[in-house]
Amino acid sequence: MSDKKNVITIDGPAGVGKSTVSRRVAAATGFAYLDTGAMYRAVGLYLERHAVNLENKKEIATAMKSLNLQLIPAKNDDGDVGVAINGEDVSESIRTPEMAMVASRVSAVPEIRDILTEIQRGYGKKGGIVAEGRDTGTVVFPDAKHKFFLDAKPEERARRRVEQLQKKGITSSLQQILDLTLERDKNDRNRSVAPLKQADDALFIDTTVISLETVVSRILREIAEKDGR
Ligand code: DC
Repeated sequence: MSDKKNVITIDGPAGVGKSTVSRRVAAATGFAYLDTGAMYRAVGLYLERHAVNLENKKEIATAMKSLNLQLIPAKNDDGDVGVAINGEDVSESIRTPEMAMVASRVSAVPEIRDILTEIQRGYGKKGGIVAEGRDTGTVVFPDAKHKFFLDAKPEERARRRVEQLQKKGITSSLQQILDLTLERDKNDRNRSVAPLKQADDALFIDTTVISLETVVSRILREIAEKDGR
């Protein structure tokens, strides 16, 4: 018998299609969907609102103690997961390009990562989840049974992001989003704690030229094969 956890992890950089793919894999497997990026975004929003100095461990600890974070299930199959902080629904406010950058900055703080990693492990304790993020296969669930790492050329990831933002009524320029994507990649890959990287036992999928439907089919096939179905 395998001692691996019945968890599916899907990691990769921004704009690679992780959310869409993870939601669909969750729907197809009947697993719950955990969007760890939404948690970093919500913490970023909260700390920014309270003007917390990210260099000051004491200020961070106090702020984190006063923060109650609650995930809100997506309203429809293709909708984003929402988040409430201390009862206030901030689902829309966290989805801007600015909040993505703020999330990237707070995610480099070890004390914040420790707290969110613990919460995320709690969600996956009984298995049956698809966890999406940067470190779900390497740090949060190193013993996950199924691990995937998605990547794509930055220009294509930026193009997809502009399209997604447009659907939310946010107008942005391709160059601006490409610059932000590259900056976020640099932050997320080079931080000293839990940097974005492929787990040794994750399957790598380049999504630059293949459709997200194809990515989902590939993941589901891989899971079925490994599970011996
Ligand atoms: O997936 P996303 O774009 O919503 O994530 C926002 C930021 O949060 C991302 O740039 C880095 C951080 N993040 C992280 O450090 N670890 C995760 N597991 C998920 C997100």
